[in-house]
Amino acid sequence: MKTFFLILSVLYISFGEVLSTPPQRYESIFNFGDSLSDTGNFILSGALAFPVIGKLPYGETFFQHATGRCSDGRLIVDFIAEAFGLPYLPPYLSITNGQYPRHGVNFAVSGSTALDPEFFNSQRIGQLLWTNDSLSVQLGWFKKLKSSVCTSKQDCDNYFKKSLFLVGEIGGNDYNYAFFARGSIKQLRAAVPVVVEAITRTTSALIEEGAVALVVPGNLPIGCSAVYLTLFPSPRKEDYDKRNGCLKAFNAFAMYHNNQLKRSLETLRQKYPQAKIIYADYYGAAMQFFHAPRHYGFFSGTLKACCGGGGPYNFNNSARCGHTGSKACADPSTHVNWDGIHLTEAAYNHISKALITGPFSTPPLTS
Ligand SMILES: *[C@@H]1O[C@H](CO)[C@@H](O)[C@H](O)[C@H]1NC(C)=O
Ligand SMILES: *[C@@H]1O[C@H](CO)[C@@H](O)[C@H](O)[C@H]1NC(C)=O
Repeated sequence: MKTFFLILSVLYISFGEVLSTPPQRYESIFNFGDSLSDTGNFILSGALAFPVIGKLPYGETFFQHATGRCSDGRLIVDFIAEAFGLPYLPPYLSITNGQYPRHGVNFAVSGSTALDPEFFNSQRIGQLLWTNDSLSVQLGWFKKLKSSVCTSKQDCDNYFKKSLFLVGEIGGNDYNYAFFARGSIKQLRAAVPVVVEAITRTTSALIEEGAVALVVPGNLPIGCSAVYLTLFPSPRKEDYDKRNGCLKAFNAFAMYHNNQLKRSLETLRQKYPQAKIIYADYYGAAMQFFHAPRHYGFFSGTLKACCGGGGPYNFNNSARCGHTGSKACADPSTHVNWDGIHLTEAAYNHISKALITGPFSTPPLTS
């Protein structure tokens, strides 16, 4: 991070005349999402009596203790906070006295979905949900918080003008639950417009509430994830991408979602020209290291999880990371995948850099 600021300040000094404005600074961040950005809400929600993410090896690399983050260390949201010189965001559910920190709050909950539980109930897979705290619940939390951080419309507008809103990643679980319940790619493609609509609806709602700068990330290349590779193996060699060993059909599905999301955001930009709506290309940023792992220090490969209970991708549903029969690798920084589903701190660090210094956020996050 120091290097990053050094480079920025050098650039700024030498091109001071050209770059008339310094990189956009934000005074607070509000984050919505799922386990890719949850910094503790799931554990605090008490949805599960003994969640493994509440103990080591989760958190071992950076925090040296579990924080409720689904990784060995920091997440993308943590690296973004660092880049803007802000403290890490406290989980919303840890705030008990209504005293919200001015630098922002994290509403993300592991297992959360863009769609509400009713949708999954109607598909008869409601019992699979890990949490009922969907995106609309998180938006409700934000509205509640808003009434205690600012009073008048002008007061709120002034505050949120200097805030960065991260709307996701969200939506990945909507598909995960359905795929794990053996939904087909064809069936799931039909759900994409509904999921995308839920994400853009929340983005609009936040703009109506005063948000000016928003980042809306797409889905990761799920065909490269150990859980998908394990649960959906194929005897056909041609189902795997020769360049990286990922499942082509699932990556194509993630791109299908991302392309629809990008189109919807374009429509939103026309509707709200005063807002800066940034698409964050998690897929493209992650593909960099799936294609050239060693360049990024991923010497132990990209597809095999660091922490797991055996199998070709070290993902074993009967011995998932943190459960009896699983163990973590010696050096998570040489792995992309942490527990079969989530990525390592090292992978999240590379994705954040790709978003912050470009070119994987459109328009750029720091301009
Ligand atoms: C979600 O809500 C339903 C209905 O109120 C409830 O039965 C279920 O236990 C809840 N699920 C979780 C994970 O809290
Ligand atoms: C998966 O975990 C179970 C329970 O620990 C174990 O019996 C089984 O051998 C493991 N499978 C693989 C492929 O390692």
